[in-house]
Amino acid sequence: MQIAIDGPASAGKSTIAKLVAKKLGFIYCDTGAMYRTVTYMALKDQLPLDDESAIMQHLAKMVIRFAPGETEQRVFMNDEDVTLAIREPDVTNNVSQVSALPRVRTELVKRQRDIAATHDIVMDGRDIGTTVLPNAALKIFMVASVTERAKRRYKENVQKGITTPLATLESEIAERDRKDSHRAVSPLRQASDAIRIDTTNMSIDEVVARILTLVAETK
Ligand code: C5P
Repeated sequence: MQIAIDGPASAGKSTIAKLVAKKLGFIYCDTGAMYRTVTYMALKDQLPLDDESAIMQHLAKMVIRFAPGETEQRVFMNDEDVTLAIREPDVTNNVSQVSALPRVRTELVKRQRDIAATHDIVMDGRDIGTTVLPNAALKIFMVASVTERAKRRYKENVQKGITTPLATLESEIAERDRKDSHRAVSPLRQASDAIRIDTTNMSIDEVVARILTLVAETK
């Protein structure tokens, strides 16, 4: 069974997707982490972010791997644990540029489909219901107000020691939404058969319960 969860930045997709996957015994695939890892690599290797050929050459040699960790799933770029590095502001603020590159998307979509081919899966991102898994049994489009999303991101950041002010986060989130929704290839949009959930005034438990009900109705 495939469950697709899409939506704008910081709408709570990964938190919810992880919990739903755990409850169902499915694997969880964070496709945003894959685009972030490519962005991290390009910044680290000092590649111009519009040099698609150079990025593709490096990506061809790069394995992106998810592995269980003590508290949360870890992300590896080859043998380097990049779990924390890919959440840093320089990656966050450049990822939309890299994720708009058509050949990068083609390559990562292929890898995402390979992961989904052999497992029951909850996959989250921007184009899962529209492009990666168009036949997913359940598609969720998760939204929340920009103000609420910035507040959530702020709280998360404080725990990680990242000190970006709330107002800056709000404008960064709005800008990332704008770029992700307006790119030429697989822009962020709700699939026609996706169910929209506005989490602005919902607790995490409420959202998880709602999705589990939808899963039960789908089976
Ligand atoms: O989900 P997260 O916020 O970590 O995603 C980071 C970025 O990766 C998004 O802002 C978007 O540019 C890109 N992305 C994408 N397609 C996906 C998942 C993420 O373009 N399926």
